[in-house]
Amino acid sequence: MTLRKIAVMGQPVLWRRAAPMTLPLDDAARRLADDMVETMRDAPGVGLAAPQVYASARVIVVQPSRDRDAPMVLVNPVLEPLGDAVEIGLEGCLSIPDWQGLVPRWARVRWRAHDPDGTPLDGEADGFFARVLQHEVDHLDGVLYPMRLRDPRDLATTREAHHLVARLDPYRADNDPGEDHRS
Ligand code: NI
Repeated sequence: MTLRKIAVMGQPVLWRRAAPMTLPLDDAARRLADDMVETMRDAPGVGLAAPQVYASARVIVVQPSRDRDAPMVLVNPVLEPLGDAVEIGLEGCLSIPDWQGLVPRWARVRWRAHDPDGTPLDGEADGFFARVLQHEVDHLDGVLYPMRLRDPRDLATTREAHHLVARLDPYRADNDPGEDHRS
C-alpha cells in the first residue's frame, strides 16, 4: 500500500462530481481503496473520499465509530435521510487543513453501497457515523463542508475552534461537539 497525496481546497478535482465505479473493483481500483485506508490512517482521519486523493471515483473509506476500528470501504454509496431531524456538529476535513466548522447534517440516514467484490451492503447510521457518511458522500458530489454552513461565522481556524462550541448553544443545548474528526 502507498500513501497518496491529499488534494486541498482549490484543487478542481474536489469540485467535480465523481463517476460511479464498475463492480467488482479491478486491481487498480482495489489498490486505490487500499491506499485510501492507509492514507486516512496516516493523516489521521476518520473518513476519506477518492476525490481527496485525485481520483474522481465514487468510493469512500469511513470509520463507523471513533474507536479506530476496521475502516469500511463503500463503493457507489447512496444516502437517504431517515426523518427530518438535523444536528449541528463540529467537522474538519483533510482537504481543508487547520479549519473547523459547525455543520448541519441529518441526524439519521439509511446507507446503501457495495463492497469491493460487489456485495451489496446497507444499514442505518446516526451520530458520528451518520455525520462522517454525509461528509464523505458530499465529497463524491463535489461538495465541501463550508458550502453547508448556516453562517460564515460557523467556520474557525483550529486554534480558535473552541469558540465554535459556544456557538453551538443557540442551536442545541445538549449537542456534544465531540473531538476533531477530520475526514
Ligand atoms: Ni473531507
